[in-house]
Amino acid sequence: MNTAIVNGAAFCYTYKSMDKFTINLETTESLIVIDKEIALGRLEINPSNALIVTDKTLSGNAALASYIKSSGCPSVVLPSGEAYKNLESIKKIAEAALRSGLDRQAVFIGIGGGVICDMCAFAASVYMRGCRLVLLPTSLLSMVDASIGGKTGVDFLEKKNLIGSFYPADKVFIYIDFLKTLPESEYRSGLAEIIKHALLTGPELLGFLEDNKELIMRRKAGILEELISKSLRVKAEYIETDFREQGIRAHLNFGHTFGHALEAAAGLGRFTHGEAVAWGMERSLRAGVKIGLTDRNYAERVRALLLGYGYNLDFEDFDRKLFFEAIAADKKKKNGQIQFILQRNIGETFSKALDLELVKEVI
Ligand code: GLY
Repeated sequence: MNTAIVNGAAFCYTYKSMDKFTINLETTESLIVIDKEIALGRLEINPSNALIVTDKTLSGNAALASYIKSSGCPSVVLPSGEAYKNLESIKKIAEAALRSGLDRQAVFIGIGGGVICDMCAFAASVYMRGCRLVLLPTSLLSMVDASIGGKTGVDFLEKKNLIGSFYPADKVFIYIDFLKTLPESEYRSGLAEIIKHALLTGPELLGFLEDNKELIMRRKAGILEELISKSLRVKAEYIETDFREQGIRAHLNFGHTFGHALEAAAGLGRFTHGEAVAWGMERSLRAGVKIGLTDRNYAERVRALLLGYGYNLDFEDFDRKLFFEAIAADKKKKNGQIQFILQRNIGETFSKALDLELVKEVI
């Protein structure tokens, strides 16, 4: 069992509009810019050595389409969705780059949700053995998770992210305006990762989520900028400490072993990723209470918060066999045992193997 408490140093700053900070990841300094309005001019692209990577959904956004056209930059528009997160899409990106004469100093610019960010980053990591990378995440999930921290990849032989690399973006531009039109379940998907960051750190962010629920659900731009900024500072602490996930970064998988298994067992499209993670965090805390590890009052406080944000925590109508197959296939094994991320209390997080009989009892 290992434990670590992130000490909340992330909060020793005063929030101001248009936030900018850097995250140091091995040899890359990632610049993160958070702002309300989309200011694509800031990208300062040299159109003769850049490639925009986006998908069909995004290319339907008139402002974005007009920007891409006026930038003079070549672009590759991929089909939308997880089904296209594969090596064929990477081939399309590389072909477009090669056709446009891009060299190793080229910048790949990914504009889209998690799938586009992961694929554009993977393509950048292998094109000419690594070119520059700029990401503009357009979903809340990709703003607070996929675009930050350098995990790249594609699915392979039905396994999520089986082929990939660690390759952080040089710059990430987060524009709150993109969130205005995000479907409710996609919005909730990203919020779950923010709530996870709060539970991993300390009371300040958790209190912020409890106190500002209405404004957050109404997607008020100012509060969202502040929330995303606070959330990213928590993730930054983890990835700066353990970029290649040899230890503490695994805590960012809190709720994910249960959640991924639910995604696999509940049927396609029933839960977004974050909605399944919210269910998984609640089940992890339930398991912790059962083995006498987790403070019961804390577990109840988290359940109340998640219910308040509208997550379906009592969902039981899924295929148990598929669920346990997914648990068995989980990548996070140690000495053949699946490791679950558990908590004693806020900011007190552990990695621990759980008896599968206990898992059965809590699902
Ligand atoms: N999404 C978890 C991580 O970046 O490690």
